[in-house]
Amino acid sequence: MILTDAFWPVFALSSWFSGQQQHQHDESLANGGHHHHHHGHHGHHGHVQPFPGHTLYKLNDGNYIPSPAWGTGTATAREGNATLLVAQALEAGWRHIDCSLIYRNQNGTGEALTASGVPRGELYITSKYDSLTNQSVHEELGLTLAQLQLDYLDLYLIHFPRAAVNGGGLKKVWREMEEVKKMGLVRSIGVSNYDSVELLEEVLEVAEVFPAINQINYSVYNAVDKAPVVALGTQHGILTSAYGELRPITSSPNGPADIIGKQITDRLSKDYGKEVTYAQMIFSWLKSTGVVAVTTTSNKERLKEQVVPFGKDFPLVTAAEARAFEASGWGYKD
Ligand SMILES: NC(=O)c1ccc[n+]([C@@H]2O[C@H](COP(=O)([O-])OP(=O)(O)OC[C@H]3O[C@@H](n4cnc5c(N)ncnc54)[C@H](OP(=O)(O)O)[C@@H]3O)[C@@H](O)[C@H]2O)c1
Repeated sequence: MILTDAFWPVFALSSWFSGQQQHQHDESLANGGHHHHHHGHHGHHGHVQPFPGHTLYKLNDGNYIPSPAWGTGTATAREGNATLLVAQALEAGWRHIDCSLIYRNQNGTGEALTASGVPRGELYITSKYDSLTNQSVHEELGLTLAQLQLDYLDLYLIHFPRAAVNGGGLKKVWREMEEVKKMGLVRSIGVSNYDSVELLEEVLEVAEVFPAINQINYSVYNAVDKAPVVALGTQHGILTSAYGELRPITSSPNGPADIIGKQITDRLSKDYGKEVTYAQMIFSWLKSTGVVAVTTTSNKERLKEQVVPFGKDFPLVTAAEARAFEASGWGYKD
């Protein structure tokens, strides 16, 4: 473990270490959230890997995904400092790293993963097919694995609908995604930016193995619009994962969702007995509604702050609060 002593107690309090307890947490979360999850058999190893401080969700293929993910696709990680920033995230206890060939920093990310000494089984690595190389999924995945210094990914996504078109069409590309999963090169497969019912239905039509994840831009300012595609996913055991969820803090501060957002933040602070930040409330909202969080920060204090809501002691946002928060952001264009 490379967790610092100062940070360890946060994880120790909010963690669970046996597979049995993790499974119970997963069940209670699924029941407490708005979404229903499939509860098939366990994944590859017949037991659940420990992800201290993270929330685990069971996927429709039997594998588990930890939330939150620390993203490498934000400008701060692109200027050659990916190695440093990924190392910093791992040091702070983050274990799910979200990557892509198109971010052009997988070599640096791979260096940090290897240098960290964190055992492979305690990491969860996502990357994406971009069709940048005019190669098949298998060939482009080979490049990604080499760059990341890995022999398998936990999750591989078609990055956006255009990547499937460029790769020879959705049907061909999804068949290749299913193939690399069968080969064991990736444990789970999914899509990203299939963020309308129409787009996700195209995938369902060609899929023999349904995607496990749909990673989309999802924040309080588009949650109502995206509710139908999230619901379609849920019907098929496809878990939604969100990027851009910090929009009320980053690109749209002082927007109409802040009034209810801050009320919920205050309520959480009272129940938690400690001050909760707006960002933590946003993560608690995602957790409570069964959406995986993909976020990022280069800031050491925020690295600590932003994982806290994923521990099991952090208060959940209620269904009524979530609906009110989402409604208050509806229709807002900045
Ligand atoms: N699938 C896709 O097409 C797609 C698209 C976009 C992103 N992504 C993935 O999602 C990850 C996150 O993307 P995102 O940028 O959209 O996520 P986000 O979680 O909405 O925002 C992260 C940004 O917010 C800033 N931030 C975080 N907390 C803050 C706070 N309390 N106050 C002020 N600023 C704060 C961070 O800057 P600091 O470093 O200063 O904290 C960072 O630049 C990416 O890295 C990428 O891996 C995927």
